[in-house]
Amino acid sequence: MKNDIEKIFFTEEMIQNRVRELGRILSADYEGKVPLLVGVLKGSFIFLADLARYMDILCDIEFMTVSSYGAGTKTSGEVKITKALGSVIENRHVIVVEDILDSGLTLEYLKKYLSELNPASVKICAFLDKPSRRQVPIIADYVGYECTDAFYVGYGLDYAGHYRNLPFIGSLKPEIYS
Ligand code: IMP
Ligand code: MG
Repeated sequence: MKNDIEKIFFTEEMIQNRVRELGRILSADYEGKVPLLVGVLKGSFIFLADLARYMDILCDIEFMTVSSYGAGTKTSGEVKITKALGSVIENRHVIVVEDILDSGLTLEYLKKYLSELNPASVKICAFLDKPSRRQVPIIADYVGYECTDAFYVGYGLDYAGHYRNLPFIGSLKPEIYS
């Protein structure tokens, strides 16, 4: 698996340091509020698992599944909820946890959808942000790292379902796509 990687952009140490920092920031910002972390599957599962453990306040955890991507590397532009929330979010402080903010279509759709369920607040926490790719004007409230327009794998991010279990984030060798 590691032989398929062309370049490492974010090492395991960089990732853990930044997620620890985000955990501290969220713990301070949400002190006394018992936020509900909503992980967007599948990409966020590793980030959320680390982030939640770096938070030292009470929180609840839920997951949703949305699909916008097929097996390729480009968004289809269409967002569908394929696994709904398992709990009521009315009056809750919701933090949507995502692996990466790319075109913004997924999070724009999700933020609107969740806002209509009358939560106390909805904020977005994305580990990576590719601002140059944005198609809709959405900004993440909490970001791990800004990144350039490349296709990344690892730390939850996949190519055709694989590489999510890499502890670092990198790009793939061109021959993997062919
Ligand atoms: P958006 O709706 O275009 O912002 O897409 C967000 C989703 O696209 C993310 O949750 C990822 O699943 C996927 N995605 C976007 N960029 C990448 C990437 O570089 N590697 C892997 N998945 C990506
Ligand atoms: Mg995703």
